[in-house]
Amino acid sequence: MTQVPPELLHRLTAHGQQHVVAGWDALPAADRAALAAQLAGLDLGELDALYRRKDEPHTVLPPRDRIAPVPIQPAQASAADTARGEDALRRGEVAALVVAGGQGTRLGSDKPKGMFPVGPVSGATLFRVHAEKVLALSRRYGKPVPLLVMTSPATHDETEANFRAERFFGLAAADVFFFQQGTMPAVDLATGKLLLERPGKLFQSPNGHGGTLTALAETGLLARLKARGVKHVFYFQVDNPLVKVCDPGFVGRHVAADAEASSKVVVKEQPGEKVGILAAIDGRCGIIEYSDLPDAMAAERDADGKLTFRAGSPAIHLFSVPFLERVTARGTGLAYHLARKKVPFYDPTANRAVEPAGVNALKFELFVFDALPMADRWLAVETPRAEEFAPLKNGSGPDSPETVRAAISALHAGWLEAAGVPTHGHPVEVSPLLALDAAELKAKLPVGTRVAGPTLLS
Ligand code: UTP
Repeated sequence: MTQVPPELLHRLTAHGQQHVVAGWDALPAADRAALAAQLAGLDLGELDALYRRKDEPHTVLPPRDRIAPVPIQPAQASAADTARGEDALRRGEVAALVVAGGQGTRLGSDKPKGMFPVGPVSGATLFRVHAEKVLALSRRYGKPVPLLVMTSPATHDETEANFRAERFFGLAAADVFFFQQGTMPAVDLATGKLLLERPGKLFQSPNGHGGTLTALAETGLLARLKARGVKHVFYFQVDNPLVKVCDPGFVGRHVAADAEASSKVVVKEQPGEKVGILAAIDGRCGIIEYSDLPDAMAAERDADGKLTFRAGSPAIHLFSVPFLERVTARGTGLAYHLARKKVPFYDPTANRAVEPAGVNALKFELFVFDALPMADRWLAVETPRAEEFAPLKNGSGPDSPETVRAAISALHAGWLEAAGVPTHGHPVEVSPLLALDAAELKAKLPVGTRVAGPTLLS
């Protein structure tokens, strides 16, 4: 009979978590070693402390008089700012970071979301769309833009294999950096006990997009980027194919303001829109999630009729490298958010799998925007929703493959029509390798281009 190592048992017992080693001697040796390794990586004291917070209100907003709308810079950058951003790209000072560690549960695809086809005509995947934008920028400015791809254990292997199979979508392999975010266990909501996925394996899930920042530092990638001369990291989410990756006008304004964190905003038109908003809390930039924004504040309007708190966040940020170093330095960490979820699990004491009827578990997530209040200098820059924000979240209905493909087609139809080519309502798509914006398309469009059916311009 194989005993649980006494130190491990002692540690688990001290935190009331010894149930996870029930049935230890029946586990194959490899599973015992894997479980011991999983447990060694956990801070059980931290989990206890997190569990004790379970009945605290989700977020406590300060009184209204400490919250102000953020000043929003207009969408159009000046020529000087755009030139400044272009110079930064020419010097190789900007990296693109796509977060692709989420499990895409609402979309319901069994592959990483980045592998989902969104091109309305080409069927290009999200990964292809983003990678080709990075390639196009690298060509345009004559300097490789490093592409950082953050994955999680749920998406890592398939993501890396997909990039390899697609020959990195034309990018040099040396300019693509994969790194994995951390994971967190889940605990039983009623007891705080760790949940197992199966005998000998803890249930673990990605630790939220905020895990990007810690992982960037902990994997040593931030230091490597710095050594390469990168000064700014452009952060975006894999599920938004419209994002203007490393937008020079945005980069230029961030540089001119010497900002530590800059964020794009899409103007919220209706009080009930489900989008988090940027707000200044005690003068610092922060995001208030839509579920935390009191109805009265959501409905407040300025004298001109616009919503007062209208700076909707499409989750597009630009962080300076020194800021990222500061945010990820030991002791300054982001705080976990608690989410009540339904998690099927294995009960080791009863030796059976349990399919809960309702919410039964607490999960823990870090949010990237919790870093924003740490920025001493920050900017919020408007971007038209139709030009830059069409997230793929659901299998059908709003924010679904259908709406995302329609948004890409509508944007590119606008570019074509501005270049004098009517699209007659046909689906159209412009490859990033041909043009990244309307002006570039106009300059490159072959004379005599016509649209008489679904059209891909590449
Ligand atoms: P969402 O919160 O929309 O999650 O993530 P999701 O995984 O795409 O979808 P659901 O909620 O399971 O249906 C927004 C972005 O943050 C990334 C996702 O990959 C997506 O780009 N993300 C989210 C991570 O990289 N890691 C996480 O732990 C969570």
